[in-house]
Amino acid sequence: MAKAKNVKLRTRFEMLTSINHIGIAVKDLDASIETFRKLFGFTDIHREVVEEQKVSVASFQVGDVLLELTCPTDAESPIAKFIEKRGEGIHHIAFNTDNINNDLAKLKNDGVQLINETPRDGAHDMLIAFLHPKSTNGVLTEICQHK
Ligand code: CO
Repeated sequence: MAKAKNVKLRTRFEMLTSINHIGIAVKDLDASIETFRKLFGFTDIHREVVEEQKVSVASFQVGDVLLELTCPTDAESPIAKFIEKRGEGIHHIAFNTDNINNDLAKLKNDGVQLINETPRDGAHDMLIAFLHPKSTNGVLTEICQHK
């Protein structure tokens, strides 16, 4: 049998490089930090409030990926609405990009429904934008770029 060629996989969006984080919607940040700490023994936790998204975030590094526990700080937060509708759980997956504006333009041009047509401020000093789950098989998808 022929040996499989070492084909380098690349996304159509060549700027997308890797997964940055997985967002998990939680009701009680301190309680869920304790849950994840007990489960996995995390010691290093980054915490911050993201005013723009009306959330408080606690992140743990797993390899190159962050697990981001995300808790609403306001009833109007998108996370509060998500929890109300669907309960706690995996909220979104976020991909790193080197050029968020380029990727948003490509996506829009391809007819992908965008929640954010222009980048917003996210945690970890990142620019972020969400794609609508209607365009992504129900998976809320974020692309993000370090400022
Ligand atoms: Co995110």
